[in-house]
Amino acid sequence: MHIVKGTNRVAFIGKKYTVKLPRIAPRQVVREVSLVTRSFFHCCKKLSIKESIKVTLGIWRTVPQGTAGIKANFKEWKYPKKLGSSVVPTRFSFLGLFNVMDTAKPWHMSQKYLRDNSPFEHIASHTTDNPRNFGWHDGRVKLLDYGDINIVKYLLENKALFRRQLDTFVRENR
Ligand SMILES: Nc1ncnc2c1ncn2[C@@H]1O[C@H](COP(=O)(O)OP(=O)(O)OP(=O)(O)O)[C@@H](O)[C@H]1O
Ligand SMILES: [Mg+2]
Repeated sequence: MHIVKGTNRVAFIGKKYTVKLPRIAPRQVVREVSLVTRSFFHCCKKLSIKESIKVTLGIWRTVPQGTAGIKANFKEWKYPKKLGSSVVPTRFSFLGLFNVMDTAKPWHMSQKYLRDNSPFEHIASHTTDNPRNFGWHDGRVKLLDYGDINIVKYLLENKALFRRQLDTFVRENR
């Protein structure tokens, strides 16, 4: 087994399965909770509770989040079936705190080459420009990091296109 640290998660990579735990930044979490609480009570002075929750959630999404790893793990648990054959399946999750995913083998691709020749839409480039977010699984290259909302949204609408583009890119650059 070996351990790899990502920005928001740490992966414990075994032969068959990989465990992903969120990296939680306590200081940021405290700041986040304080900001959300203050915003909510401030909004409540002028808006209904429902509207205040909506505005507060909007504000919350714009700040750096100490709980981003939990949210990413949550998405990887919620969406794999809907995202199709381009993602490595997540087998188990306990509230986004502990995810178990199939292990994928590294995709040996240069980051610069992928960035300069990317066949994918720019909208999810945070994920798709980094070859470390892909790996070989069941004979195909798939995404092993799909915890970002942009890639989720993109795949929900374009999963067949993405699969085709990825297969073509892999075939042409072997
Ligand atoms: N299923 C897997 N199989 C093999 N390696 C994996 C798997 N999941 C994650 N990894 C490795 O762990 C690293 C970190 O995982 P991941 O990319 O999911 O975390 P992150 O915090 O979302 O990363 P980022 O820094 O891209 O935001 C990956 O780049 C990859 O090298
Ligand atoms: Mg990643």
